[in-house]
Amino acid sequence: MNSRTITLHDCEFSPYLYEEEIIARISFMAETISREYAGKNPLFLAVLNGSFMFAADLLKRVTIPCEIAFIRLSSYQDMESTGKVKEVLGLTEDIHSRHVIVLEDIVDTGHTVHNLINQLQAKSPASVQVASLLLKPDCLQHKLDVKYVAKTIPNDFVVGYGLDYNGLGRNLRDIYKIVS
Ligand code: IMP
Ligand code: MG
Repeated sequence: MNSRTITLHDCEFSPYLYEEEIIARISFMAETISREYAGKNPLFLAVLNGSFMFAADLLKRVTIPCEIAFIRLSSYQDMESTGKVKEVLGLTEDIHSRHVIVLEDIVDTGHTVHNLINQLQAKSPASVQVASLLLKPDCLQHKLDVKYVAKTIPNDFVVGYGLDYNGLGRNLRDIYKIVS
């Protein structure tokens, strides 16, 4: 077995995306956003817990004036996405007439982001776009425009760099995928 394989709870994971590549992709995303949102003072809404590392590394590289706030949605259980509507918690900022960029760790079925966008649109922002670290296009069940994606990946369960498996793995610097 690969010596860098790790075990979280009952599952084994092997290295998939190294920190260097993650940061390079996030830097490119930050440059694009800085160019496209110049003069717009975007409000980043980072979805906790999964996006905390992504949000920090992205924001450090955004070069235009911007703001960030953190929101939570009801939690995610085990390895499969549930189709349930998740309520937005902790949004105290007034997003009316603001250019909002939602920061997500991963878009899988798209239920979460689809539902979140609908809840945000109801508050009349100037615009809402999504920036996700990862996207699993094969799993998408909604017609969603995820404008900024650092990397698209196959339908494998991944952990690390903010992403967890039942609470574990968020602290890992690299991203690992499940050994099947
Ligand atoms: P969706 O609603 O199916 O798009 O699921 C999105 C949420 O499910 C993400 O924000 C993650 O919290 C979680 N998720 C989906 N796929 C993975 C994965 O491979 N690893 C860890 N969490 C995941
Ligand atoms: Mg999440």
